[in-house]
Amino acid sequence: MLTIALPKGRVLEELIPLFAKGGYSFPSEWFTSSRKLVFTLPEQGFTLFLAKPMDVPTYVEYGVADLGIVGKDVLLEAAREVYELLDLRISPCRLAVAGKPGAEPALYPRVATKYPRIAERYFKERGQQVEVIFLNGSVELAPLTGLAERIVDIVSTGKTLRENGLVELERITEVTARLIANQVSYRLKREAIQTLAERLGKAVEGEVSA
Ligand code: PRP
Repeated sequence: MLTIALPKGRVLEELIPLFAKGGYSFPSEWFTSSRKLVFTLPEQGFTLFLAKPMDVPTYVEYGVADLGIVGKDVLLEAAREVYELLDLRISPCRLAVAGKPGAEPALYPRVATKYPRIAERYFKERGQQVEVIFLNGSVELAPLTGLAERIVDIVSTGKTLRENGLVELERITEVTARLIANQVSYRLKREAIQTLAERLGKAVEGEVSA
C-alpha cells in the first residue's frame, strides 16, 4: 500500500481526471463534497489523505505519507527534505511580485506574502532590502490598505489583481503541481512508487487512458 497526501482545494480538482487517465479510478465526489479526510482504496493499493497544501511536504518528509502532490510554490516555501519525482503540469500559475501601478519604488519597501521564504530569497538575490510581512491570505489587501507596497503571491488568471487595481511587476517563477516522495519510502517502496510515477507520467504526456 502507498499512502499519498493530496492537497485540498484547486489542485485536487485537476488531479482526479489525471489519476483517471493513469488508470486509477476513484469516485470524485469522495474528494469534493465530503468532509472525510482519509480514504483507503485497497483495489488501487492506495491510502489517500487530504491535507492543507502547505502541510503536504511535512507529511511526506516525516514519512507519514510515502508520496504527496503539491504545487511548486508550496514545495519551494516549505523547503522540506523530499524528492521531487514528476511535474504533473496541472494547476499552472506563477509566483509574482505585484503592486499598485506607477507607484514610486520605496527605499525599504514592505512586501506582504504567504510565501516569506520565497520572498526573502528573491529580494536577497537581487540585493534589494525589503521587510517581508507574513499574511495568511487575501494578500492583495495589503497594498490597498497601506500595509505593504508590494506583494509576492500566486497569479493564475490575473483576475484578483485586476479587480483590485494591482499589476504584476516581476515574475518570480512558473508553478505547476509536482509528485513528491519521502526519501526512505522511495528506496523501500521503489517499485510501487515507480509504477505510479510512470503511469502518471504517461497520463501527463497523454499517452494512456484507463
Ligand atoms: C490565490 C492567490 C491569489 C489568487 C490568484 O488565492 O493568493 O489571491 O488565488 O488567482 P487569480 O489570478 O486567478 O485571480 P486563493 O484563492 O487561494 O485565496 P487566498 O488569497 O485567501 O490565499
